[in-house]
Amino acid sequence: MKTLIIYTSQTGFTKKYSQWLADKMKADIYDLKEAKKKDAAFFDPYDAIVYAGWIMAGKVVKSNWFLGKADGWRKKRLAVMAVGGSPNDNPDVEVTLKNLIPEDKKPYMRAFYCQGGFDYDKMKGPSKLAMKMFTGALKKKNDDKSQQVAEYISKSYDISDVKFIEPIVDYLEGLNVGTPI
Ligand SMILES: Cc1cc2nc3c(=O)[nH]c(=O)nc-3n(C[C@H](O)[C@H](O)[C@H](O)COP(=O)(O)O)c2cc1C
Repeated sequence: MKTLIIYTSQTGFTKKYSQWLADKMKADIYDLKEAKKKDAAFFDPYDAIVYAGWIMAGKVVKSNWFLGKADGWRKKRLAVMAVGGSPNDNPDVEVTLKNLIPEDKKPYMRAFYCQGGFDYDKMKGPSKLAMKMFTGALKKKNDDKSQQVAEYISKSYDISDVKFIEPIVDYLEGLNVGTPI
């Protein structure tokens, strides 16, 4: 199984998951910026291609590039690995995964979620500002849940774990076909 992993990461969590997956699959790994420079023939030898991106406001950053290529790669095993700050059991995760892959691509592509974290030291200015606005809006709400979430996401934390790549490895190795969402 010749596997290629292409990733976009701002603060390092998606890069770390991509590296874990690449080590496990003995895969080639490229930053999206590098992958974009490759011609079509570069992708031909790969049996499986994974796009890994971080989640911003419920969407996987730059996944449109991968989705745009996917029709031409439909005979390969394709997956999107989404990395976010929410814990795996957060109900929003399922909604994000459900909306991630367009209906026409669901028969030949699977989406997976891996919990990452927040790293405010590595975050760029616009992202920091967006998070400040988001937590500010949550704090203005009166319910306890919003206060808890605002508190939780206002500081850096790391809830990443190599175990979360296991379902993706199984899918790539053909041990499970994944569940279309
Ligand atoms: C502006 C902004 C919006 C975000 N929106 C979400 C979100 O909707 N869901 C989520 O789980 N995480 C969200 N996150 C958290 C990131 O996805 C998380 O920090 C991720 O681990 C970053 O990956 P990276 O280190 O590869 O950049 C958001 C982060 C930022 C900065």
